[in-house]
Formats: sequence, structure tokens, C-alpha cells
Amino acid sequence: MQQVRPVTFLKGLATFIPGVARFACRSSGGTDSARYCYSVWMRHLVALKSSGLATCFSRVAELGPGDSFGIGLSAVLTGVDEYNAFDAKSHAVAEKNGEILEELIGLFQQREPIPDSDEFPQVSPQLEQYEFPSDILTDDILKAALHPNRLADVRQALEHEESGNIRIRYVAPWDDSSLLELESIDLVFSQAVMEHVENVPGSYQALYAWLKSGGIMSHQIDYKSHGLARDWNGHWTISDLQWKIIKGNRPYLINRHPHSAHVAMMKEAGFQIVGENKIQLPPLSRAALDHRYLDLSDGDLETSGATLQAVKPGR
Ligand SMILES: C[S@@+](CC[C@H](N)C(=O)[O-])C[C@H]1O[C@@H](n2cnc3c(N)ncnc32)[C@H](O)[C@@H]1O
Repeated sequence: MQQVRPVTFLKGLATFIPGVARFACRSSGGTDSARYCYSVWMRHLVALKSSGLATCFSRVAELGPGDSFGIGLSAVLTGVDEYNAFDAKSHAVAEKNGEILEELIGLFQQREPIPDSDEFPQVSPQLEQYEFPSDILTDDILKAALHPNRLADVRQALEHEESGNIRIRYVAPWDDSSLLELESIDLVFSQAVMEHVENVPGSYQALYAWLKSGGIMSHQIDYKSHGLARDWNGHWTISDLQWKIIKGNRPYLINRHPHSAHVAMMKEAGFQIVGENKIQLPPLSRAALDHRYLDLSDGDLETSGATLQAVKPGR
């Protein structure tokens, strides 16, 4: 059976019509929901703790926040003073960020349990339990992070980029690693982004340059076909020529890199992998693969997603 429906090719071709490519990249994930953002940030924190890594940060950066800065705002509400967001395209809307911030404040004040797989079945990493992580976000940490004066600064910084100690910065589109001071960031994270990035080695190199020695990266990556093929792994059966038509004139789609390629590119940039939590699904028959993917390992063929944590080694 054909992996790609004719309409998928037609959609790609349509993006050559002026204005359509912009429209085709309009949808950008789940960050228009405060509960999604809260769930994602808490899952990254809990996963970091499970790997024995730090969970308190001062300066963070996120790649690809999507429709709002809600994941980064969650970070700020748990003690982060500086949040830098870099997207390929400007999706986030100011009023939405304000609404999401207010809802997030309520979730943290109520110590809301982490929204789980019943509420967000597609969201990873999945956790063993979803209670509020009061061992990570202690009463003392939250009392300081949610102090009314600090919240006033957060609201101001959301509008004016900076207030008191708080800085909230959004750059979209970005393509320049000099946007951040070298060795200034404690944590870089992304959710469902690295599979879309066109220049993955260049991005990991930029993240490496931004992180302090000992700084941490936490990425959730979805290797599936994103509805572009019939099966979750059908994108690895499509020839380069067909893929060019499917991608059309869009600035990004999915890069089709398998798990081991991300691991190799992180290591190439200088990172040490410290956590690797893979999601597995049934593999394709090797006979179906396009020749470009013939040497995918058995592991890659069944890895549909992963949380990858890496550290920039200390000097
Ligand atoms: C599926 S959305 C995920 C959005 C959000 N992180 C979430 O969890 O809903 C993918 C995001 O990656 C962004 N993106 C694609 N290429 C990028 C790049 N090179 N640098 C930063 N963001 C990028 C897209 O613009 C989009 O916001």
C-alpha cells in the first residue's frame, strides 16, 4: 500500500504558490494550552531529577516555543530569572502569553498534579507518577518564585522584556548563534522541535556555545512521520525526490533524522549524553526502506521518540 496519499504531494506543491508556505507552517504544537505547558516543563524537571541532574536554573533558553512561551513561563515561575526563546517563525501572540501566565500562576499556587497521559496521551516524556513534585519544587522555592513582587516583575518583563531581575526574550526567526552571550546559559530545552530543525548540527553547535561548562540540554524529539506517511515510520520509505515535493517551499517540515543521528550530532558538537529515554514502536520491514535509509540500525527502526539529556563537559 502507498505510504503517501496524493493529497500530501498536492499540499507540498501548493506551497510554491506565494503566501501558502507561510500558511502551511501555521500550526505549531500545543503551547496554546497552559496545562500542556505546565505538564511539559514539569516532565522535563522530573526527568532531569531522575537522571541525577540539576533542577534549579537561573538562565535558560528554549528552541521552538510555538504558540506561546508557556513552557518557558513555567520555568520562570519555578525560579528561572532569564528565559530566552528562539523560534524559526513567529507563532507566539502577546495576549495569549498573558492569559497563559495567569493560568500557570494558579496551577503552581495550587500545586496542581502534573497533567498525565489521560489528558495528554501524545506528550512525552511519560513519568512513573504524576503527583506534584514537591521534592523538586519545595515550599521555600515556590514561596520565593511566586512572591507577589516577583510576579509583578514577570508580568512586566512579559510586556517589556525586562523588569527587576526577570528577563523574557523572544527571537523569531533566529539564525545567529551570537544572539546569546557565550557560556551564559544553565539549561537549554525543546519539546517536539529538533525533528523539525533544518540545520541540526549547526543548532547543537549554537546550543553548546551558549551553555556554561556543566550546562544541561533536555530535548524531547518525535521521530514519527507527523501524518506525512500512512505509518509512523513511513517517511523512511520515501525517496529524496518525492520528499522534495512533499516539503515544497516550506521553511521546515521534518528532517527525517533517526535517533542515532541526533545522538551522533550532539556528541560531534561536544556534548556528553547523560540520559536517553526511548519510545519504541513496531519497525517497518527493511524491504520497504528507501535506499537512503537502508543502513538504519534495528534500534533506530523501532525508536519513534526519545528524551535526550546531555551535558556540556566541564573544563
Ligand atoms: C511541533 S512545534 C512544537 C512547539 C512547542 N515546542 C510545543 O511543544 O508545542 C515545532 C516548533 O519548532 C519550531 N522550529 C522549527 N525549526 C526551528 C528552528 N530551526 N529553530 C527553532 N525553532 C524551530 C517551529 O516554528 C515550531 O514552533
